[in-house]
Amino acid sequence: MSSSLPIHVVILAAGQGTRMRSHLPKVFHPLCGVPLIEHALTLAHNVGARDVTAVFSPSARSHALALKEKFQDITLAYQDEPLGTAHAVLCAKDAWGDADGIVLILFADTPLITAPTLQALVDSFQGNETQAVCVLALEAPRHPHYGRVILEEDGCHVARIVEIKNASADEKNVALCNAGLMAVRARDLKELLPRVTPNALTREYYLTDLVELARASGKRVSYRTASSLEVMGINTRADLALSESILQTQLKAKAMEAGVTFLDQMSVYLSMDTVFGQDVTLHPHLFFGKGVTVEEGATILSFSHIEHTHIAKGATVGPFARLRPGTHVGEDAKVGNFVELKNTHLGKGTKVSHLTYLGDAHVGQACNIGAGTITCNYDGVNKHKTTLADGVFVGSNSTLIAPVTIGQGAYIGAGTVLTKDAPAASLTLSRAPLKEIPDGATRLMSRQKAKKAS
Ligand code: UD1
Ligand code: CA
Repeated sequence: MSSSLPIHVVILAAGQGTRMRSHLPKVFHPLCGVPLIEHALTLAHNVGARDVTAVFSPSARSHALALKEKFQDITLAYQDEPLGTAHAVLCAKDAWGDADGIVLILFADTPLITAPTLQALVDSFQGNETQAVCVLALEAPRHPHYGRVILEEDGCHVARIVEIKNASADEKNVALCNAGLMAVRARDLKELLPRVTPNALTREYYLTDLVELARASGKRVSYRTASSLEVMGINTRADLALSESILQTQLKAKAMEAGVTFLDQMSVYLSMDTVFGQDVTLHPHLFFGKGVTVEEGATILSFSHIEHTHIAKGATVGPFARLRPGTHVGEDAKVGNFVELKNTHLGKGTKVSHLTYLGDAHVGQACNIGAGTITCNYDGVNKHKTTLADGVFVGSNSTLIAPVTIGQGAYIGAGTVLTKDAPAASLTLSRAPLKEIPDGATRLMSRQKAKKAS
């Protein structure tokens, strides 16, 4: 069910993140290959947000501007000083000050939250004209940090949220906790947010104070719940590592549902955007960086490292393959051990079985690239292209000095240093002269032994 009310998303990302101990602002640390802040942008997109504003600390400005380059639809806002969550939302006022509908407030450091959970927050406003706020809560008995959600006597509306630092002993015993995220009707936010005053203890402006302010103006506050897993915030490297393992498990579960076999799922690393066809088989110890698609029936063997690569149906890759950005492995093609491919296209049925580097190469169908073949694609300044038509055979230990083209069905003899184009159907080879010295080995050895003895 999707809400007909327009949704405006505000992502809070201005916290200091000091516990990460990093020069990189916390919300730019990657999780399954994607920066935390981008996980929040994906969520905003998945709930059909009309607009998205992200609030950063001025110290993250250069990173924020780079993000804006990539996602031009987002609006950037800055919070000059971290004066609290309510103050951060106020810094994004341009986005919601004149809006109608719902303002959905997300935390950039809480990436495991799911779209259906957020949708439930938004949908709670339907046909509920007196509701100003819906908060996200979770059951977390004796949690050491989370604010506590205190309910009204009816047991279904929220009376107030008390931060743990301000909570009485009785309030600390309440198991219902505040996840922090909330949805607020835009017109109520406009009226209530400027009324938030600094907390007496911490001098911070608490977003959670909206609850009592809403009630005081005759409005209601409801809540929805999420699992503690979804709500997990990232404050430390340990939190980040734990979120990685949770999300990796989820990504693999999804892949298995789509028909992928993992011989050892624990040792395979996926990115958020890894795409698998049916009947893909994954051997132990694999790294899938961003931008990888593996089509139906392909097999990836152990210790392969793959990024920005397309692997077509039925292909076999590895063990020990390194596929770098811009690689296409054709249908039923084979990439064997200790092969590195970069910006290289392999046609259908082509085999590169061992110890090879191909960079900036286009290789046709049904070619055979012998062990130890190297493209010399870089002259120290420029990159050059190597082109092989269909049915080419390259003998072992050949050096292809780019730019160079090999015609259809040509045969390059083993050990060739190819410095000019090889026409179709030709046999091309370079041979250094071979010298044979009869009895030379025996004489050489006795000379050397005599030298060592003296
Ligand atoms: C908040 C909630 C608390 C809840 C907890 C759940 C408030 C007042 N408290 O507390 O009830 O249990 O989340 O994790 O909302 N941020 C800014 N600017 C600021 C302060 C924070 O942008 O001045 C951002 C942070 O980057 C973060 C989010 O707001 O993404 C939450 O801030 P944080 O300081 O972690 O709030 P908590 O103390 O955890
Ligand atoms: Ca927090």
